[in-house]
Amino acid sequence: MARDKTLIVGNWKMNLDMHEASLYVHQLAKLVKNHRDVEVVLAPTALTLQSLSLQVNYRQFKLAAQNFYWRDSGAYTGEISASQLRGIVQYVIVGHSERRHIFHESDKDIRAKVQAAIRNHLRPILCIGETAGERADGETHDVLHDQLIGGLANVTSEELEQIVIAYEPVWAIGSGQNAHPNDVSAVIRTIRSQIKHLYGPRAADAIQVLYGGSVKAESASDYLALPDVDGLLVGGASLEAHTFNDIIKKAHKGSSLAKNIEGGL
Ligand code: 13P
Repeated sequence: MARDKTLIVGNWKMNLDMHEASLYVHQLAKLVKNHRDVEVVLAPTALTLQSLSLQVNYRQFKLAAQNFYWRDSGAYTGEISASQLRGIVQYVIVGHSERRHIFHESDKDIRAKVQAAIRNHLRPILCIGETAGERADGETHDVLHDQLIGGLANVTSEELEQIVIAYEPVWAIGSGQNAHPNDVSAVIRTIRSQIKHLYGPRAADAIQVLYGGSVKAESASDYLALPDVDGLLVGGASLEAHTFNDIIKKAHKGSSLAKNIEGGL
């Protein structure tokens, strides 16, 4: 997907049961106006994915899995594979900081998941971000570099086109302490220059990069106005349909504003 489309992803984490999820999608479907320049992706719990896949109009919303196991099938009790998610979701979140820190996922696991997603024609949203301690120690760039190399190690230039990067500083997630847009801009420029180093200037220019971490309806436009930011990965503020729709509306405005500027209007 080209960068002219803004991606707004709602990561519900371990919230909303089957009934609440269905009600939410019903409400959001009535609120959201289809815009060719905005893609809305919902990432509910695995439990509700299948029923929501029957409820959503994929032209209005896409679905994402929050997690999966990298093998396609076998004796892996409790796991769901990317191949089982095919036909239900279009995206998968990989390497979220909660998976890295609470469930101790390594770069090796994350790399295998990126490969499994690509193998199964699902778009990985690869999350990277530094902790507060790493930031204080001036290690942000090194950490992001290691996480990028770790996640993308076996990815070819062609496969990279399927990948979305989400910059989510760990200290900003769920803390109410969102990163300053200027800092986000600087960090995402660094991410693009690291991609440039790995895959060349065209890939660096083409890759979609999102920001995530305590995004609210009031702050969404500050990020969407940044030329390097192609969308948002929203946690808490995606849990209520009206609030999430407020963010989606900002994305539409943000995209048209950017286009107007590009078009010299
Ligand atoms: P919050 O928006 O709740 O900070 O969560 C961000 C996030 O982790 C999305 O994946």
